[in-house]
Amino acid sequence: MANVAVIGAQWGDEGKGKVVDWLASRADVVVRFQGGHNAGHTLVVGDQTYKLSLLPSGLVRGKLGVIGNGVVVDPDALLSEIARVTAQGLKVTPETLRIAENAVLILPLHPALDKAREEARGAAKIGTTGRGIGPAYEDKVARRAIRVADLAEPETLSHKLDELLLHYNTLLRGLGVAPFEKQALLDGLLKLAPQILPFAEPVWERLDELRRSGKRILFEGAQAVMLDVDHGTYPFVTSSNTVAATASSGAGVGPNAVGFVLGIAKAYSTRVGSGPFPTELSDEIGQLLGDRGHEFGTVTGRRRRCGWFDAALVRQAIKVSGIQGLALTKLDVLDGLKELKICIGYRIDGAFSRHLPAAPGAQAAAVPEYETMEGWSGSSRGARSWADLPARAVKYVRRIEELVEAPVTLVSTSPERDDTIMVRDPFEG
Ligand code: GDP
Ligand code: IMO
Ligand code: MG
Repeated sequence: MANVAVIGAQWGDEGKGKVVDWLASRADVVVRFQGGHNAGHTLVVGDQTYKLSLLPSGLVRGKLGVIGNGVVVDPDALLSEIARVTAQGLKVTPETLRIAENAVLILPLHPALDKAREEARGAAKIGTTGRGIGPAYEDKVARRAIRVADLAEPETLSHKLDELLLHYNTLLRGLGVAPFEKQALLDGLLKLAPQILPFAEPVWERLDELRRSGKRILFEGAQAVMLDVDHGTYPFVTSSNTVAATASSGAGVGPNAVGFVLGIAKAYSTRVGSGPFPTELSDEIGQLLGDRGHEFGTVTGRRRRCGWFDAALVRQAIKVSGIQGLALTKLDVLDGLKELKICIGYRIDGAFSRHLPAAPGAQAAAVPEYETMEGWSGSSRGARSWADLPARAVKYVRRIEELVEAPVTLVSTSPERDDTIMVRDPFEG
């Protein structure tokens, strides 16, 4: 099995960037297939820390990066990120980065509406990243989005902007926000066009050629299954499908090209925005996990909510996404805790459920049922083999495997690239 898809199995920030960077040494090309610059992937390589939002993490290894059609691209954000990582010594040119010509663009009116709607929701807000992701995907399915290829056609841009503004300015005025002017938006796009178009191409064709010449593709997911617009804790989700199947439609390859599906989960749980989080800890243990795990959103700077590992939820993510192996990250954050809890299901109105139901009321009412395990006193930080791990840490990992009904094929024990235990090479299937 030549290709691998890496996807988050919780609510994001599981360490996908670190795992993709580590696996990229075995791949020829790394492809982003959904999401946008709402993602924040942190990679630590020696004394350098790279924070990537839109760029595929394989660029750090000098691997070809592809932004697929399923991604929503903010051209300003992309150019700033390219400038930022170029200053760190990475090479991002049309030779190293290709962008799908049919990817949807995020324009300044998208974050404006995203933020205005969140403000209007008040306490019921989703807690979005405010980057215009939702509105951009809405425009895509409403068939009014401006796409990368449109940048080459000023006439197309002009009449698409008319349609967009009719929609957006009506909404923005209603929300008390100043409307956008067509000429300023058009001028902005025409200025960006010569900087973006050299990266654009039908990436499906390149991926087809790469596949036929036996090259290995690594699909890099953003967000996670519990933020998937269908399978997540709706409506507290992002606006794209994040499950592994999206790697196919979001890159322009067949479902048989996706390969091994590697799910990433932290050894505990975190969540950035609002919404149900059954195992959330509002006590000093939650505080400790947040401090030790440096749980601050890369994109938002907000403190992440923390809680115990939810095996019922991860099992659900594994089933709906076809995850074949699990990479368990941040095991080191649990070092020294006397007692660990793992959620095995929920009590909802007196009845036990092995999964989190879809209705928001039931999700909010779900009380976790825990299994308790003894913690370990030694250190797992920096471990690179099973033998380096305390025996009770191994026991914890084994119990997780049983409960989620999938093998743990990789363990991560620090932010550093090489502090990783590979049990099974996902590229070998
Ligand atoms: P992503 O969005 O899934 O790529 O994850 P983020 O990069 O947003 O968040 C994961 C954070 O945990 C980053 O700061 C990583 O450097 C860090 N990290 C990744 N793996 C480990 C690990 O095994 N142990 C520790 N302590 N930190 C890790
Ligand atoms: P990575 O790839 C964690 C969350 C937001 C909010 C919800 C909707 O780093 O794991 P959006 O701006 O997408 O409309 O926000 O989704 N969210 C993330 N949470 N990690 C992410 O990405 C996220 N991307 C979006 O906090 O709750
Ligand atoms: Mg992140």
